Amino acid sequence: MLKNDLILRAARGEKVERTPVWLMRQAGRILPEYRKVREKAKDFVAFVKNPELAAEVTIQPVDILGVDAAILFSDILVIPEAMGLPYKMIEAKGPYFAKTVRTEKEVERLRVAVGDDLSYVTDAIKLVKKELNGRVPLIGFSGAPWTIFAYMIEGSGSKTFSQAKKMLYTNPALSHSLLQKITDSTINYLKAQVAAGADLIQIFDSWAGVLSPEQYNEFSLKYISQICDALKGNKGNKENIKNNNPISPILHIPSVPIIVFAKDAFFARKEMSKLKCDVISLDWTMDIAESRSLIGSGKTLQGNADPCLLYSDKSIIKRETEKMLRAFGSKRHIANLGHGLYPDIEKDKVKFFIDTIKEFRF
Ligand code: CP3
Repeated sequence: MLKNDLILRAARGEKVERTPVWLMRQAGRILPEYRKVREKAKDFVAFVKNPELAAEVTIQPVDILGVDAAILFSDILVIPEAMGLPYKMIEAKGPYFAKTVRTEKEVERLRVAVGDDLSYVTDAIKLVKKELNGRVPLIGFSGAPWTIFAYMIEGSGSKTFSQAKKMLYTNPALSHSLLQKITDSTINYLKAQVAAGADLIQIFDSWAGVLSPEQYNEFSLKYISQICDALKGNKGNKENIKNNNPISPILHIPSVPIIVFAKDAFFARKEMSKLKCDVISLDWTMDIAESRSLIGSGKTLQGNADPCLLYSDKSIIKRETEKMLRAFGSKRHIANLGHGLYPDIEKDKVKFFIDTIKEFRF
């Protein structure tokens, strides 16, 4: 039993005493305590693969910042690695893949990941759940297939993801077959996370904003939709079994709330309201009232403070945070930032932002 289930209730549209809050990248470099644990691992990938260390930094923000949920410390890039494309995290630069995928042969060679390939993640989830002992829910996550595809083709971060987009234009059939392999892997992975104890799931589509609305429907939303369907009611599962797809047949997992975060996809908000997800996460460029009217009252909204707000004085943080809370209103809102915390934001300001939300009453 969970002692604090505010986020779960808010996600389902049930009554809450106050707006719940957690932050993207709360398990990260803003905490000196995180940096200390990180030093114990050889590098970022080794850190992610160590369930004890991953569990420790997952719980830190619950103890230190007082957030209403833990998010598993891991990375979206564990999926390419499990499919046969290892990555490195280069200090101050970001992800780097020595091999990329560009040809039919290279797509064929990739495998569909199954839950067992990522047992270090499910082991970390089990440790976190034990250690949390019901204090707050645990959020599991994955990248959206498009965002994972973008890194696998490009081989690193990019402002434009022009190589990944080039593939969409020059070989849409190959793009779809890679996106389907990533989607099947992600479904297996998220099911394993839920089976291990994740209480809700967030899907990160960090590079949604480089696509046109039409491309977004065809190359991203379609696959996010398959993931939502597969996690809810197992519809995707039946189809996959019928079509002989290598999806793992875990049929009995609880139906957990799903949050979809598509950064910069202001153009897709109406389409996203049709997904079988419970929560849509907004970035700070998206007007709150406009988003509510596009998405309707059937979903919870999450977000959407600009992380840079947390560089300001406390009086401004308080004023803007309360303005945001009023704009979302008392129903169906989970407070968060519009994207992850930046590493140089002061921990004290982060805590102040969280406390402002926890103390606010309508
Ligand atoms: O606190 C949390 O949110 C949970 C852990 C988490 C990490 N990455 C840890 C991490 C989560 C949910 C992610 C998701 C992730 N990873 C995304 C989607 C969210 C987003 O930011 O848009 C993306 C695109 C990645 C890929 C990735 N990982 C990049 C581009 C980078 C480098 C940029 C940076 O911030 O340095 C990472 C590294 C990373 N992942 C760090 C952390 C805490 C920092 C690395 C470090 O500790 O050295």
